[in-house]
Amino acid sequence: MTTELGRLEDLPPNYLAALKAQNLVPLWPSLRALLPPTRPRPGTRPTLWRYEALRPLLLQAGELTPIEKAERRVLVLANPGHGLENMKASSAMYLGMQLLLPGEWAPSHRHTPNAVRMIVEGEGAYTTVDGQKLPMRRGDLILTPTGLWHEHGHDGDQPVVWLDVLDLPLVHYLEASYHVNGPRQAVAGGSTERRYARGGLLPTPGFERTQGAYPMLRYPWEEARAALLALAGELPADEAPQITYANPETGAHAQNILGFYALMLRPGQTARLPARSPAAVFHLIEGGATVQVGEPGPGTAPAPAFTLVEADTCCAPGYTPVTLANASTREPAFFFIADETPLHQKLGVFEVRG
Ligand SMILES: [Fe+2]
Repeated sequence: MTTELGRLEDLPPNYLAALKAQNLVPLWPSLRALLPPTRPRPGTRPTLWRYEALRPLLLQAGELTPIEKAERRVLVLANPGHGLENMKASSAMYLGMQLLLPGEWAPSHRHTPNAVRMIVEGEGAYTTVDGQKLPMRRGDLILTPTGLWHEHGHDGDQPVVWLDVLDLPLVHYLEASYHVNGPRQAVAGGSTERRYARGGLLPTPGFERTQGAYPMLRYPWEEARAALLALAGELPADEAPQITYANPETGAHAQNILGFYALMLRPGQTARLPARSPAAVFHLIEGGATVQVGEPGPGTAPAPAFTLVEADTCCAPGYTPVTLANASTREPAFFFIADETPLHQKLGVFEVRG
């Protein structure tokens, strides 16, 4: 049983004033909040952002604010559990829906936080990363890792929207967040993802493996989708096909801090994800599904369940089981998932429970 500890108000005001004058703080009134019993008390609250609700507001931003006045025209998907003004989806993850209108250009810059883009709608936009011009098509994942120059352009005739996922809250917390603006990049070539399109076969011209930390910057949805469908043909019917977006040279996560995955639910399928220490974000690429965060405890109401349609996004705190269910008995559902697994693993705090 946990002993009740002394409170701040139990201490005499003149003693508290004397501590404050010396920049000192008593630990015991805050000890339980810093180190709660058994499991953390996350600020991250299960939250759903409906695309149908945010899309008109994002398009309105396109009318209200020219790209030159925004640089990046983004509505941040902020978790109320962290305070909207802090612009966090979880303690380490930032989510934003970004709009680029035909003919617009979001100028070249680089920064310390890592970013990825999951393309939500529209054709004709591209991101130039480190001199590679990468087309942006629905469901594609594009990396803009820490320190790499990137800019966005749009040659199409309809608005393009994508979901940004960054480790900005973490890098900002570390007081290591900054950006540098640069001139328009010279395009040195197109996307190199075809080099890694066949599993287990790596390019080695002259017996040399590719150098550089980010050999693959674009993960086309058609390849990810095909990989999931192939897995669906092999796995037992009760196992949901899932893939990790990996660095093809090392097999490690594609980026250092956040992990990225795609998961398929067959028609009518349910997937129970165990309670894991990292918080997670679920974005529905195709189909319809429910996301139940947590489980009802003894005598408690059922956990909140979100119903997602295409392009909806929700988040779940860590240490919480999540149940994904395909709402359709005819069509598969496809999720893009982002989480904090690489970070937790590197810090040695990664856990899976029950
Ligand atoms: Fe950026």
